[in-house]
Amino acid sequence: MKNFFLAPSILSADFSRLGEDTKKVIDAGGDLIHFDVMDNHYVPNLTIGPMILESLRNYNITVPIDVHLMTNPVDNLVSKFAKSGATSIIFHPESTQHIEGTLQLIKEHGCKVGLAFNPTTSLNFLDYVIEKIDLILLMAVNPGFGNQIFLPSTFNKLREARKRIDTSSPNVLLQVDGGVKVENICEIALSGANVFVIGSGIFKYSNYSLIIQKIREELNNAHFRLIH
Ligand code: DX5
Ligand code: ZN
Repeated sequence: MKNFFLAPSILSADFSRLGEDTKKVIDAGGDLIHFDVMDNHYVPNLTIGPMILESLRNYNITVPIDVHLMTNPVDNLVSKFAKSGATSIIFHPESTQHIEGTLQLIKEHGCKVGLAFNPTTSLNFLDYVIEKIDLILLMAVNPGFGNQIFLPSTFNKLREARKRIDTSSPNVLLQVDGGVKVENICEIALSGANVFVIGSGIFKYSNYSLIIQKIREELNNAHFRLIH
């Protein structure tokens, strides 16, 4: 079983040939796809919705797809994304009225569920729900755009989240999203993340296989350091 998972964020893919580009990044070694949904309300950007997700499934993209909802509200979108082929649905706790209700709704639709934390959102939101979720996503940039700089405060937050997971729910995945690159991924892995969302850090290169290979080398290095 893999210890670390790479989740290319198609926000940085070529939207004029999204199916092809998505397939290319999976063939190059991406484990799952990260699908950023922005509503021009919760964040100042507007991206892709359930119809695009369904098109990717129809294009025979079969790997897990994590839908990262940067929307407010959340609940009315859950069934649409579930029906369109989402594997997991991730939302920001402050963007829904009743966190527990939204978690239940996502599970009832047969999807895994994740909570996303902005750089200054407290992890205390996890206090009563960590046993009920499948993944935690820590934003290392303010949500809304790709290709931003990784905020160094994320390192401590990752360590704190890792402690909480190891203490109460060791199967919960710890994802990091924003500014992850081949240059910093080793340190990020050493801080406790095990799923790495990477947009521009993969798609800006012409050879996806080569950059993913370099990223995996960094992760192998981190794995070696963690077990010794
Ligand atoms: C930002 C998105 C990220 C973004 C990451 O709001 O949630 O998933 O695509 O892009 P990079 O890796 O370019 O920072
Ligand atoms: Zn995202």
